[in-house]
Amino acid sequence: MAPVEIQVNGALHTVDADPTTPLLYILRNDLALNGPKYGCGLGECGACAVLMDGRAVRSCRVPLQTAAKRPVITLEGLASGGTLHFVQKAFIEEAAAQCGYCLNGMIIAIAALAMQNPGASEAEIREALRHNLCRCGTHIEILAAARRALG
Ligand code: FES
Repeated sequence: MAPVEIQVNGALHTVDADPTTPLLYILRNDLALNGPKYGCGLGECGACAVLMDGRAVRSCRVPLQTAAKRPVITLEGLASGGTLHFVQKAFIEEAAAQCGYCLNGMIIAIAALAMQNPGASEAEIREALRHNLCRCGTHIEILAAARRALG
């Protein structure tokens, strides 16, 4: 089993693990990056989302080998030089959290949308968040934060 080299938040890491290991496990257990959350482990909830090649992906369903040499950005990597990403700021300004467990996925989804479609419409924002689950029902505040970030 050859070590796998991954690039996370701009840093290269050599990981000695089964190449089929879910990227989420590597991020949390090996790299101590706990922004991505384990929700369902089935690609259904979005809590584990990260950016890969600028797109939101569900890291519980991405094998380590798929992430090799592709730029991965986690919630921690969105902030830069001690300054929060504008999507993170918008979520704070709108108090868009209750338990907060889903917020990683919500923020990553909106950060990806901001890169791909910075002038996204309300319908496009809703579509981008459609497969991200929030059990607390904080959807009104989450949508307000997304509108603030993209406005
Ligand atoms: Fe990955 Fe739910 S934990 S989608």
